[in-house]
Amino acid sequence: MPSQTVEDYLERIYELIEQKGYARVADIAQSLEIAQPTVTRMVQRLAADHYLVYERYRGMNMTDKGRLVAQKIRRRHHILANFFQLLGLSPREVLIEVDGIEHHLSEAAVTRMERLVSYLKDNPKVVKSLIG
Ligand code: FE2
Repeated sequence: MPSQTVEDYLERIYELIEQKGYARVADIAQSLEIAQPTVTRMVQRLAADHYLVYERYRGMNMTDKGRLVAQKIRRRHHILANFFQLLGLSPREVLIEVDGIEHHLSEAAVTRMERLVSYLKDNPKVVKSLIG
């Protein structure tokens, strides 16, 4: 099982590649608010563990293994964000809550939460009675 840190890096690298077509150490460092040398070490570790292919002057790309982890986390992020949005949290609060718990739920719990989210979306009256 990848650690929480590994998951956070892969999630962010995946998003950067999706948005910009590439992810550089400087971009990752900025968006995770981590020093560049730390990011470089982590990227090298991710490459050694076959989550990424990294060449110092050519940048990085995700392997299928890395992409799978990133997609799993993104799915969770999305479901949990929807859930907290429905409960009326602000975008900033949503982000804090989601990034805190997205690593700690089982697949079974996430799938049930997904069903709950779609139920709540279909039943706005229930949401209203919950949050007033
Ligand atoms: Fe996230």
